[in-house]
Amino acid sequence: MAQNYFLNYLCITMYKKIIKPLLFDYDPEKVHNYTINRLSGTVFPALLKLFLSYEDKKLNRKVGRLTFRNPIGLAAGMDKNATALAGWDAMGFGFAEAGTVTPLPQDGNPKPRMFRLPEYGAVINRLGFNNAGADEFEKNLEISKDKISRDFIVGVNIGKNKHTELDDAYQDYKFSFEKCFERADYFTINVSSPNTEGLRQLQQKKYLDEILKHLQQLNNELDKTYSDTAKDIYLKIAPDLTEAELDDILQVSIDNNLTGIIATNTTISRDTLPEGNYESGGLSGKPLEPISNSVLKYIIKHSSGKLAVIACGGISSYDDVKEKLDLGASLVQLYTGLIYEGPGLIKRLKKEIVGAVKS
Ligand SMILES: Cc1cc2nc3c(=O)[nH]c(=O)nc-3n(C[C@H](O)[C@H](O)[C@H](O)COP(=O)(O)O)c2cc1C
Repeated sequence: MAQNYFLNYLCITMYKKIIKPLLFDYDPEKVHNYTINRLSGTVFPALLKLFLSYEDKKLNRKVGRLTFRNPIGLAAGMDKNATALAGWDAMGFGFAEAGTVTPLPQDGNPKPRMFRLPEYGAVINRLGFNNAGADEFEKNLEISKDKISRDFIVGVNIGKNKHTELDDAYQDYKFSFEKCFERADYFTINVSSPNTEGLRQLQQKKYLDEILKHLQQLNNELDKTYSDTAKDIYLKIAPDLTEAELDDILQVSIDNNLTGIIATNTTISRDTLPEGNYESGGLSGKPLEPISNSVLKYIIKHSSGKLAVIACGGISSYDDVKEKLDLGASLVQLYTGLIYEGPGLIKRLKKEIVGAVKS
């Protein structure tokens, strides 16, 4: 027990005092690619498992059709091509959401397109769905199958290609849904990234209803083909919506039998940062937290318990997780907190959740 505690402490201190200062000297996207490459191999995941393995039955959560071994998930965008799933499993996440994947490969926006704001514990990105496409993604899921634990849940976050017209967007979502159906534990429909022009308009009732109807129909058809394997579907929303827009989204989501909502994606607002000139793109991390928490609060209040909520935005400590769970979230996800706190964060969060249940 004491040895376990020491290893976790060592892991967190080493990251913050030695590894992070080194990494932060380099371009964020280069560091990101380097990290994904290391996690896609075998040595790093094995080391992470040695230092960070920790589970407890008190962490289990049943949400929709799935039982999660713990409520802490990796948010979408970190593992765009699903190459590092064994790494996230070894790091101790209960689940990882890979993607956003689009039907065809695409390069995304011109570089530089990812920026750290260390004084605010934040990141701004305008990557624009750079990914290797659904064929490659599906192959990576297949390869990972034997490398991840049986109780590690893999979500697939799907989006549309840059040049697909909004009226045809549902076809892009259907394509990746069908392609990854056998390998995904759940799907997330991403209509909320700010870095693909027009994408967030898909949150409007007419587009959203069309996309969700098509996907649930396909879900039911594939369910019959593969027998009893219909998938949970979540909708990932922006934090920058009006209450009227949120009301529409909740109604369409309930009408189409979604399992839940992921709240939220990055924000285009800079209101929670001091006045200044900032890069364009989606803001994540600490300044997003109050914004996404107010969306979370609204959703819980207005969905009458008919939708589960996976809360995301600004988590870097146990108190942040507790606040979201207390507001009514079933599970949480994080991305930016991992950049600032390092991989030891996941074990620390799990131990504190278990500690709070015991006391
Ligand atoms: C560099 C970067 C890339 C992202 N890419 C995606 C993406 O492809 N799809 C998506 O749904 N969300 C994406 N996100 C948003 C995250 O999944 C998450 O919703 C957001 O960052 C808020 O969580 P955080 O404050 O813990 O980072 C991205 C975030 C960052 C920082």
